[in-house]
Amino acid sequence: MQPARSCLAIVLAAGEGTRMKSQRPKVLHEVGGLSLLGHALSAVAAAGAEAATVVIGPDRPEVAREAATRFPAAELAIQRERRGTAHAVLAARESLRRGYDDVIVAFADTPLVRPETFAALRAGLATGAAVVVLGFEAVDPTGYGRLVERDGELEEIVEHKDATGAQRAIKLCNAGLMALSGEHALEILEAIGDHNAQREFYLTDAVAIARARGLHAKVLRAPESEVHGVNDRVQLATAEAEFQQRKRLAVMKGGATLMAPETVFFSFDTQVGSDVLIEPNCVFGLGVSIADGAVIHAFSHFEGAEIGPGAIVGPFARLRPGAKLAERAKAGNFVEIKNSEIGVGAKVNHLTYIGDASVGAAANIGAGTITCNYDGFFKARTTIGEGAFIGSNSSLVAPVTVGAGAYIGSGSVITGDVKPDALALGRARQAEKEGWAKAFRTAAMARKAAKKAAE
Ligand code: UD1
Ligand code: MG
Repeated sequence: MQPARSCLAIVLAAGEGTRMKSQRPKVLHEVGGLSLLGHALSAVAAAGAEAATVVIGPDRPEVAREAATRFPAAELAIQRERRGTAHAVLAARESLRRGYDDVIVAFADTPLVRPETFAALRAGLATGAAVVVLGFEAVDPTGYGRLVERDGELEEIVEHKDATGAQRAIKLCNAGLMALSGEHALEILEAIGDHNAQREFYLTDAVAIARARGLHAKVLRAPESEVHGVNDRVQLATAEAEFQQRKRLAVMKGGATLMAPETVFFSFDTQVGSDVLIEPNCVFGLGVSIADGAVIHAFSHFEGAEIGPGAIVGPFARLRPGAKLAERAKAGNFVEIKNSEIGVGAKVNHLTYIGDASVGAAANIGAGTITCNYDGFFKARTTIGEGAFIGSNSSLVAPVTVGAGAYIGSGSVITGDVKPDALALGRARQAEKEGWAKAFRTAAMARKAAKKAAE
């Protein structure tokens, strides 16, 4: 077996991002709940990069933190002045000096490049190229660097601003990303100068320099949608749409049915099992998993929730962080659940808030039940035993425990613990006054008639 090739990814994240019109650095804006930088780092990691150096601008502690979260071994290099893409890559000079077989250059604002594509760039190096550039056929090539090919070799990349009329007619464009052979990367990068229209150090010049040294350069073609860059909120929305489309396809290929895929929104980390049915208009925020055979009815919203096998949710349910539905549990319409476990086969069918609670297996929570979990200062827990039956419109004032098999009479306000198999009632006793309504009506009608007569 061939020994694995070592790989360093250099991720350029020193962008200005002013067109986002945001307090937040551009590369921390999110697609599918993951930052743009996070997408780039996960993709290079999945393509086998064991080291990553993120090039950031000065004073970007938030970007540094995100890099460490998404790629714990990531190093940072600071580019103090923006003098072009090659200048940015050379900010990672120290990392390059350690010596790697493959060097990938990725842009942190290009979140949709798939790991397979980075791996294919590396494969080009393994077959002898010194530079492999990611190219795409642009619908509108204006602004992009053009890839000039001859006899299957990449000759050079010409930036739009430096291109001749004939070169501008080329549709094959530079996505910006490339892979360089670690053996030659430093000498090539250090040979790049700034003699061009923008007085910048262009990474793209790596191609002509490699060729002048008798080395090989190649193009790997990708669909334009994959190399889509994000500079403003409109492009961010386009990236989100493409991400969602991919995720929906992956979920369906994994064996889930989406009745109206275009109306269901996932996060990058949503896990969906097989034989899951998801009806239209559902939103899955971060940290949600849905086990095999679960049914998600329309208009439901999830964050940090775990849905067990065969569980049934919605329509119009809201599952917030820490909601855990065990096997075959049910959370029906207008039900909100937060930080609570719902046991095997337990039912919370209608109009209910369950927060900071554990509900035992096969318990039945009646319509309109509320766990009063907050006193304005502290949260407290409610524990409901297996097989307990909570009558409709009850308030369970936490901390409180309802024993297994106990009954709570409808409309109760329960402030004290209830023993297993007991019946607890916490409401006014019913009073009845025979004939009262009829007498009231007769008197009222007489008064009304008298008033009308006096007018
Ligand atoms: C670059 C390519 C162009 C390609 C295009 C694709 C060069 C010279 N040109 O042009 O061929 O078609 O991308 O979108 O590479 N950056 C830094 N520091 C710098 C300059 C840039 O970190 O000093 C980062 C930017 O934040 C961005 C990336 O590098 O993430 C690309 O820079 P940008 O200025 O957008 O390059 P383009 O002119 O778009
Ligand atoms: Mg750009």
